Amino acid sequence: SAHRGFGGVVPEVAARIHLETLVPLIDEALRRAGVEWADLDAVAVTRGPGLAGCLLVGLNTAKTLAFARGLPLVGVNHLEGHIYANWLVPEGATEEPPEPRFPLLCLIVSGAHSDLVLMRDHGDYLRLGRTRDDAAGEAFDKVARMLGLGYPGGPAIQAAAAHGDPTRYPLPRAWLPGTYDFSFSGLKTAVLRLLDSIGAPVPVADIAASFQDSVVDVLATKTAQAAREHGVAQVALAGGVAANVALRERVRQLVHVPVIVPPPRYCTDNGAMIASAGTYRFRAGERAGLDLDASPVLPLS
Ligand code: KG4
Ligand code: ZN
Repeated sequence: SAHRGFGGVVPEVAARIHLETLVPLIDEALRRAGVEWADLDAVAVTRGPGLAGCLLVGLNTAKTLAFARGLPLVGVNHLEGHIYANWLVPEGATEEPPEPRFPLLCLIVSGAHSDLVLMRDHGDYLRLGRTRDDAAGEAFDKVARMLGLGYPGGPAIQAAAAHGDPTRYPLPRAWLPGTYDFSFSGLKTAVLRLLDSIGAPVPVADIAASFQDSVVDVLATKTAQAAREHGVAQVALAGGVAANVALRERVRQLVHVPVIVPPPRYCTDNGAMIASAGTYRFRAGERAGLDLDASPVLPLS
């Protein structure tokens, strides 16, 4: 990735790369899917939240394509895209996945968000909680950097943690009782202090496992509490951190209703999830005008 050397995403670099790669990427996607423009019903595009430059490049490309090909345009929230990755038709499958069962609780955990959202119907979202500081994925990325692991940090920590003892270092858990909010900055600081106190050699696997256990414990426990309190029919995981195996397992242990999770490659950012959410909006009759605007801070509801 172009961002690897920076340990994160650089907005200007990201917008420029979007501009250079988007049109060839769309051609390649159509070719690989064996689909012609004439087979398409609509163009779905991310309106936000996200980096302004990237959103603008995407939005303007989508508007141009929709106009030039005479296709309707549908705007999608990036987080809604993550949620709808759960209802993508799996590769090789011929049938659509089962419809969502409402009310549904969704834990959205990505590099920028950690939200607990109650979904009462398609497009109907109530945010129960959010992170007060770092997002879960951001914590994975920062701790991975402290441990000298690569970017993105989530997969690197998960791999290192597989050989580690999660009970070796009891790290803090910010429960924030009485709320469904999260906080991960204290945990990050605790790892930094732990590293200072240990010195070399760094027991990378044990620290990665202890850190992952702390994040997963809080996310899964609060998700289970919210699922019980709101009597949901289903729990869905979404966002890059939903690819984490320990998180998937712990949520399945603690939650008393069926848990759905997208295939790992559709948890991290992808275009298919935007098409999935766009399909629901399109079927519900939604059509955006060419004045559709981008919003870097677009809320889910
Ligand atoms: O949803 P996403 O692709 O991008 C945003 O919208 O932010 O999420 C990226 C985040 C990164 O912080 C990355 O470290 C994390 O998802 N991530 C993981 C795993 N795979 C990706 N975190 C924990 N375990 C994983 N296996
Ligand atoms: Zn994302």
